[in-house]
Amino acid sequence: MAKVTGLEGIIAAETEISLVDGDNGLLVYRGYWAKDLAIDHSFEECAYLLLYGNLPNETELLQFTNRLIDNRKLPQAIEEIIDRLPNDMDMMSVLRTAVSALGDSTFSWKPTIEQAVRIISVVPTIIAYRYHQVRGSEVFLSKRGLSHIANYLYMLQGKVPTHAQERALTAYFVLTLEHGMNASTFSARSVLSTESDIISAITGAIGAMKGPLHGGAPTEVIHMLDDIHSIENAEQWLRERLEKGERIMGFGHRVYKTHDPRVVALKKISQILAGKDPWLDLALHVEKTAIRLLEEYKPGRKLYTNVEFYAAAVLRAVQMPAELFTPTFTASRVVGWSAHLLEQAENNRIFRPQSTYVGEMPGNSIGRGF
Ligand code: ACO
Repeated sequence: MAKVTGLEGIIAAETEISLVDGDNGLLVYRGYWAKDLAIDHSFEECAYLLLYGNLPNETELLQFTNRLIDNRKLPQAIEEIIDRLPNDMDMMSVLRTAVSALGDSTFSWKPTIEQAVRIISVVPTIIAYRYHQVRGSEVFLSKRGLSHIANYLYMLQGKVPTHAQERALTAYFVLTLEHGMNASTFSARSVLSTESDIISAITGAIGAMKGPLHGGAPTEVIHMLDDIHSIENAEQWLRERLEKGERIMGFGHRVYKTHDPRVVALKKISQILAGKDPWLDLALHVEKTAIRLLEEYKPGRKLYTNVEFYAAAVLRAVQMPAELFTPTFTASRVVGWSAHLLEQAENNRIFRPQSTYVGEMPGNSIGRGF
């Protein structure tokens, strides 16, 4: 059988956007530790940093914030498209379709920050609109005075979030905005490298994000913990899966071979936010047990919790419905994709790797055709 390498270790681009150091568990956004930014910076500041390359001053921040607010409204044509989608279509497919439908001529090559802001701004609105539309519940329009994050929760829940909830979700967004050449970012850059438009590139990235091996894991983490149900069941449940050769969701990472710095931060936040919560006690126990069993069943593979495991805990603590975990991750990562697309366009060369043919040859003759 032909071997698939998954492009492991291949350098596809030079980037100034982020450093992901998997051996030492480090994550840097444009010269700043991501975990420090997550403590006391807003989504707007960090999105600006990734898109422009520097943190904004007061005037720049105000202008950027207003541009995000001005672009929150969903065009009526997109609402109508969403209304016509089958009710059982999953939210990531809805998001992919709605973002794709945004792509009029104002989004054509070459990508601009203006285009990126329009997409970043409207993704939470698409999610919230669909969430209510499919339930027949009230659609809450955006509230101008609220931050990008508080407004997202407001549009979903119909009430202004507490400061603690806003801070926790902001930290989650900041820690997941960007992560080097992961599968979705690579997909986006690859599409854009053909000089296609930013909408096509981000539509492709959403498709990549949807898969359970990438952005689909946190929902699976919730299902896993629900299924395990109690601390007493954890070891047996995990062993049964590992005996069958199944993967434990929320563990393992292509790059991190030590603790993922985002996990450390999100774990702290979920502990502060959830307080004494039996669900979190179960999560902590499953983490410890799974790491021990993974070392037993997969010795030397260095499998630890990845960002998805405690993302599930933080998102649950801010009362985000499990079906919106991956879409929420997308609402965050669209910033990183955009930064990469702007960078790709600045110095573009079409992505064109090669494959080694290991199939049959037609025989000794060189063929009769021309
Ligand atoms: N559970 C059990 N075994 C695992 C796991 C896991 N979660 N992850 C890796 N392994 C095993 C593999 O079976 C493999 O074993 P082998 O050497 O006997 O074949 C070995 O560890 C190495 O795994 P690879 O598949 O080569 O690792 P890769 O870098 O390709 O995959 C990935 C990384 C996809 C994240 C993987 O660890 C996984 O499937 N994890 C579960 C899904 C998940 O949590 N995804 C979210 C990732 S974070 C993000 O995308 C934002």
